[in-house]
Amino acid sequence: MATKKKKTSKPKKTSPKRAKLHGEVFFPSKEVIAQANLKDWDATAKRAGKDLEGFWADEASELEWAKPWTMVLDDSKQPFFKWFTGAQVNIVHNCIDRHLKTYRKNKLALVWESEDGKEERSFSYFKLNREVSLMASIIKSLGVEKGDRVTIYMGRVPEIIFAMLACAKIGAIHSVVFGGFSVDALQGRIADSASKLVITCDGSYQNGKLIELKRIADEAVAKCPSVENMLVVRRTGQVVTMQPERDHWYHELLESPVAKERFPTEVMDAEDPLFILYTSGSTGKPKAIVHTHGGYMVGTYTTLKYVFDLKDDDRWWCAADPGWITGHSYIVYGPLLNGATSFLYEGGPAFPNPGRWWQLIERYAITVLYTAPTAIRGLMRFGEDWPNQYDLSSLRLLGSVGEPINPEAWKWYYTVIGKERCPIMDTWWQTETGMFMITPTPVVPLKPGSGTRPFFGQEAEIVDEQGKPVKDNEEGYLVLKKPWPAMLRTIYGDPDRYVQQYWSKFPGKYMTGDSARRDEDGYFWIIGRVDDVIKVSGHRLGTAEVESALITHPAVAESAAIGLPHELKGQAIYCFVLLKPGQTASAELAEELRQHVAKHMGAIARPEEVRFVDKLPKTRSGKIMRRLLKARAQGLPEGDLSTLEE
Ligand code: WTA
Repeated sequence: MATKKKKTSKPKKTSPKRAKLHGEVFFPSKEVIAQANLKDWDATAKRAGKDLEGFWADEASELEWAKPWTMVLDDSKQPFFKWFTGAQVNIVHNCIDRHLKTYRKNKLALVWESEDGKEERSFSYFKLNREVSLMASIIKSLGVEKGDRVTIYMGRVPEIIFAMLACAKIGAIHSVVFGGFSVDALQGRIADSASKLVITCDGSYQNGKLIELKRIADEAVAKCPSVENMLVVRRTGQVVTMQPERDHWYHELLESPVAKERFPTEVMDAEDPLFILYTSGSTGKPKAIVHTHGGYMVGTYTTLKYVFDLKDDDRWWCAADPGWITGHSYIVYGPLLNGATSFLYEGGPAFPNPGRWWQLIERYAITVLYTAPTAIRGLMRFGEDWPNQYDLSSLRLLGSVGEPINPEAWKWYYTVIGKERCPIMDTWWQTETGMFMITPTPVVPLKPGSGTRPFFGQEAEIVDEQGKPVKDNEEGYLVLKKPWPAMLRTIYGDPDRYVQQYWSKFPGKYMTGDSARRDEDGYFWIIGRVDDVIKVSGHRLGTAEVESALITHPAVAESAAIGLPHELKGQAIYCFVLLKPGQTASAELAEELRQHVAKHMGAIARPEEVRFVDKLPKTRSGKIMRRLLKARAQGLPEGDLSTLEE
């Protein structure tokens, strides 16, 4: 049982370290410490701090390499860092092939349940290898070669995982586009990556509704000349149009001679790209973040092993979507690298009822649940009766990611779900970092709402506009000072933007784009983004993308999108629209514009509200002052207005 301990003036029988912590602190229980693979956090942190390369080399040595590295870290061309240079490896070798030589061959790698609860599919490592080999041979037969890009646009079905791993197995670079995105978002990402192949499903289920993935993909691909083939997995059975020559049913190719149950895993250089993943940044179109076979593999393997203390009998559930980085690193790669059993659920948290998730935990005896605060807040609304109907005693650890977790949600999660037995690992990281960066491990004392301290080998700092460290508890820019193996290598096709975006504001330090503070105990507290990124229900969206969707509507002359605090979603999108001459503002038009954004970008981007304005505040150089719109909308101080045009 974890005990809640406030700082007291006379701490009894506690170590000096305990007494030193300020504020509300939850200490790990004896049971948690006894279970933990890694008991001495301080010693490991100290060791990694002194010998960063040695620490990571030891972790890397736990995995199998086709050829060893000549250098752990090559920082000669900063900020273009390289890890494990000279080495050869394929991440799939360590996710699958390696385990086939051990008892894990018959261990469950993946368990899946359908949204309606009527279907369960499970795959041992042996079976996973067969599925991935079949998909890899089929992809290869469609002319995909090492280094080619493949866009994956699917629902939460096992095949999305096979597709990712199949691409990696043959050395193709996957680019997964979240299945909740719509035409514009998909088209932009296919075109930017010049993908040769698109893998999709006929459709997907979302809260009982059918999403027409194939139709959306058809519309997107129509404007993407790079696409030669489309591979379609049947999921819903809905009617779709198949274009002869270009489109292929997966189940038909599975029956054809091109499908091979055994297929070789391509040997890659450690620094070869594994995938690109588009994410929103400040202004402009989404950036394609590049991750590699070697470093990303070592980073996701190590972080999951230590932070969630993975054990052989764990049943791990990361309830994110495979289409986001959380799904890439911690549904697919991290768990498989650790030889764990990963659970994938097709549906959302509250469908058909708010007990669904808790039922799944009981049904599959999930031991670790990793999810986002928005899901917790959403489920908390329905009260304790729902979780209390189910046996949640299999749980031993909980996790949180994607946005700051508010203390109320933290406590509900801790008490009602974890029964005060399960420490909550609040993990701060990004698409760009590939792996957890600020996070506790189970033995670290927790403060609700703080991700505690940087992971082994990392140093974080809070700096002011000039890059000078600020005092304890003062807000500033969060920067990272040390390279790490799973760090992004570049922005695909735009290395200048990589340098400019992450490394130019504070030379030598990685700029996260977040503001934060560090308290007197060295614990970090994330405040939020400092750029034009909005986190809606943990999903990362850019104001620029919402604005470009709005502008395609014939009535809109100009628009500005901002994120404002929202009780359930964390943040929600608010839009200010300037209409073209002759257009009249009305509630109907506002509603039409909301739907317009949803249709073009996806339902997650549907604005909470559209307001019509006569003028948008701009700087003299013509940039929209979203900061001012945000302050006004919340009745907050408007700050420095010297750059505002008359
Ligand atoms: C935010 C998600 C507070 C942060 C893995 C970051 C968090 C952005 C946390 C990256 C957390 C992520 N506490 N804020 N534990 N985790 N964030 O790329 O603003 O979708 O910069 O990666 O999410 O979002 P992304």
